[in-house]
Amino acid sequence: MITVHGLLGVPGDGLRAAVSHADRVVAGSRQLDALDVPAARRIRLGAPRLAAELVADLPPEADVVVIASGDPLFFGVVRALRLHGLRPRVIPAPSSIATAFAAVGLPWDDAVVVSAHGRPLATAANLARAHPKVAVLTSADNGLRELAAALAGQDRWYVLAERLGEPEERVRVLDGTAAATTEPSEPNVVLVLAARPDEPDAAWAGVIAGPDRAPRPQVSAAAAVAFARLLPEPGELVWATGELGADVAALAAWAGAAIDRDATIPRRAAAPVADVVVAGTADVLDGVSPRAAVLTGRVPEPLPAGYHWTGESVAGLLLTTGVRA
Ligand SMILES: C[S@@+](CC[C@H](N)C(=O)[O-])C[C@H]1O[C@@H](n2cnc3c(N)ncnc32)[C@H](O)[C@@H]1O
Repeated sequence: MITVHGLLGVPGDGLRAAVSHADRVVAGSRQLDALDVPAARRIRLGAPRLAAELVADLPPEADVVVIASGDPLFFGVVRALRLHGLRPRVIPAPSSIATAFAAVGLPWDDAVVVSAHGRPLATAANLARAHPKVAVLTSADNGLRELAAALAGQDRWYVLAERLGEPEERVRVLDGTAAATTEPSEPNVVLVLAARPDEPDAAWAGVIAGPDRAPRPQVSAAAAVAFARLLPEPGELVWATGELGADVAALAAWAGAAIDRDATIPRRAAAPVADVVVAGTADVLDGVSPRAAVLTGRVPEPLPAGYHWTGESVAGLLLTTGVRA
C-alpha cells in the first residue's frame, strides 16, 4: 500500500506512527532526518519522476509512506506516481498557496497559481505583469528577488510566506523595493499583488476559478488575423507596436498575456524578452528571437533567419508572419 501524506511544517503523531511502521519512506532529506528514518528504509524525494520510478519498482505488498509538501495533488508527487500506474491513498495537508493567502486573509479563487520551482521565471513574471493576483511556487534561484527585479517599474506588492507551518514561519508584506533586496528563507511562496492585501477586493465574476478576463475588444480585421497568427497565451510577453499594436495588445490582454507597448524597453540589459511581437518594422527583432512575429511595414530582404515567413494581405494591409522554425 502506498500512502502519500501531505505535510506543511512539523510532522504530527499520525504521520510519525505511519513512518515508524513503513517498509520504505519517501521524503526530502530534511523530513527523513527529522523523522529519524533509518538509511535502509529511506528513498530521497528529489525529482518526483525518479522517486516514482523507485516506488513503482517496490513489491506491491510493501507499506510505502510518501511525504510531500502541502497538498500532494496540487503541483505534487501524485501526478508522477499515477504516471507509473500507481494509485496511492492520499492524506492531504493544506497547500502552501492556500496557507499563504490565509495568512493575509485574502480570497484566492481569482488568483493565478504558477510554479517557478525548477522552471524559468519568465512565465511567472509575465503572469504577474498581466494579472493582479498571482501566487508563485518558488525555488532558491527563482524567487522573490528575481520576481521583483523582473517586475521593476510595475506597481506590485509582494507577500513573502516563508517556512509555513514550521516554528520559523514568517509572512511579510513588501513593496517592490523591499522585495528586490530581501533574502528569503526556504521554502517559501510569493504572492504578487496589484494591491495591498488589506485593500478592498476587486470585482470578480465568481464562476470559473482564475482571474476575470478583460472585456472583449473590438478590433480591425487585420489585427484579428495578426492575433490569430500569433496566438499569445498566459505567461507569454507580447511586444505590440506599429499600426496594429493597440488592437493586438487589447486582444493579447484579453487572452491573458503580458503586454509591452514600448518595444524599446526590453532591449535594455536584464529586461524581459518578448515571446511574441507585432510591429511595423523588422528591426524590432534585432538581437531577439521571439516565438512568432507579425510585421506590417516594409520588410527587409532577407527576413531574419530561423523563421518560416509567410505573407498575406488583409483589408489592404500586408501582414508578414514569422514563426520560429
Ligand atoms: C513542488 S511544490 C509543492 C507544492 C505543494 N504541493 C503545495 O501544495 O504547497 C514545492 C514548493 O512549494 C512551496 N512550499 C512547500 N512547502 C512550503 C512551506 N512549508 N512554506 C512555504 N512554501 C512551501 C515552495 O514554493 C516550494 O518550492
